[in-house]
Amino acid sequence: MRVFELERYFSRYEFQAKYLLSASDCEPLSLSRLLESARPETLKRWENLRFNYTETMGDPQLREEIAALYQTLSPEQIQILAPSEGIYIAISTMLRKSERFIALLPAYQSLYEIGTSSGCKLDPVLLEAREGRWHLDLERLKRQITPRTRLLVLNFPHNPTGYLPSRAELDEILEIARKNNLLIFSDEMYRPLSYRAEDTLPSLADLYEGAVVLSGVSKTHSLPGLRIGWLATRHAALMKNFRIFRDYTTICSSAPSEILALMGLQNGKTRVEENQRRLGTNMALARDFCLRHGDLFEWLPPGGSSVAFPRWKGETSIAEIADRLISETGVMLLPGTVFDEGGQHLRLGLGRNNFPEALAVFEKWLKHKKISD
Ligand SMILES: Cc1ncc(COP(=O)(O)O)c(C=O)c1O
Repeated sequence: MRVFELERYFSRYEFQAKYLLSASDCEPLSLSRLLESARPETLKRWENLRFNYTETMGDPQLREEIAALYQTLSPEQIQILAPSEGIYIAISTMLRKSERFIALLPAYQSLYEIGTSSGCKLDPVLLEAREGRWHLDLERLKRQITPRTRLLVLNFPHNPTGYLPSRAELDEILEIARKNNLLIFSDEMYRPLSYRAEDTLPSLADLYEGAVVLSGVSKTHSLPGLRIGWLATRHAALMKNFRIFRDYTTICSSAPSEILALMGLQNGKTRVEENQRRLGTNMALARDFCLRHGDLFEWLPPGGSSVAFPRWKGETSIAEIADRLISETGVMLLPGTVFDEGGQHLRLGLGRNNFPEALAVFEKWLKHKKISD
C-alpha cells in the first residue's frame, strides 16, 4: 500500500503548527461545552459509564439517533465504527480482486487506494475546474464503465474541491449506476454542509438500494477526536459482511466516545447551524483574499463541505510555499501535491475560529516576501 500522503503531511505538522489554515474539520468542541449542552438523561449515562466492551453494531440508542437522520433506515441498517475504518471495511468488502471501480479524482486517498492496493483497477473521473467552477463530466463517467466495473465511489460534498452536484445531476448519476448494476460507496462525511440550504442533497442511503453511505461526527459535528462514524445501507448482505470484517479490525467502538457522540448528535442541529455560519463567513474571506491576489490564486467556489481548493498560479511551487510558510510563520497550508494532482491547487480549511487570523498572517507574509526568492 502506498503512503497516505495527506495523513503523513498532517502528522508531520498538525501538532506543531500555530495555525491550521487547511484543516477539514470544523472547530473541535471541548468536553465542557459538550457536557453543558447535554440532555439530563444522556448526562446520567455519561456519569454512570463503565468501561466495558460495547455492542459490536454500536450503542442501540446511538444507532436510533443516527437512523432518524435518514428517511428510510432503521437502527439495524447502521454500523458504528471509526470513519476511516468504514472506508477500509466497506471498499474491501464491496470489491473483489480484478474487478474495476470508478472514483472521482482528486480525492481523499483511501477512497481509491484501498481498491487499487487490493488488486482492483481504478477508472478515474477527474473533477475539472472550468470557467471559475468545478465540473463533473457525466459523459466521461459513462465512458469509464466496463463490463467488469462493480463499484462507483462518490464523495459529495467533495474533499478537497467542495464540489456539490445539483439534484438533477445526482439523479443522472444514479440512473447511470442503476442501468449498469453498480454498487455505490457514498462518502457523506461533509453532508449536510452546503452554502445554500436548497443545495443540500438527500443521502444516497435513501435514494439507492445498492448504496453504502459513510458519515460521522468528525467534520459536521466538531468531534473528530471521538473517532465515531457509521456505515448506513439498506443492502442487508453487504451489512452482514461488514460486521464479519469488523471483528478483525476494532470489534467494537470506545464506550466513552459512543456516549459523547450521542450527546453531540442530540444537539446536532444547533452545532451544524453554528458551523455553517462560520463556514459562510470564512468562505467569503477566502474568496476576497483570492480575488485580491488574482495574480496568484484563482478562486473556485465550493458548493458545500468545509474546504475549498483554489488554483495556485504562482511560479514557485505550492509545496515550496507551504514549506516556507510553516517554517517562517507557523501557518500550515496543504499543497495539492498530497492529492496526486501535481500541485496546481491548495486546500483551505474554512471551519476553524482562527481562520481570519491565519489568513491575515498568510497575506502579510505574501506581501513581504518576493515569492520567487
Ligand atoms: C472525504 C473524507 N472521508 C473520510 C474521512 C475520514 O474521517 P476521519 O478522519 O474522521 O476518520 C475524511 C477525513 O478527512 C475525509 O475527508
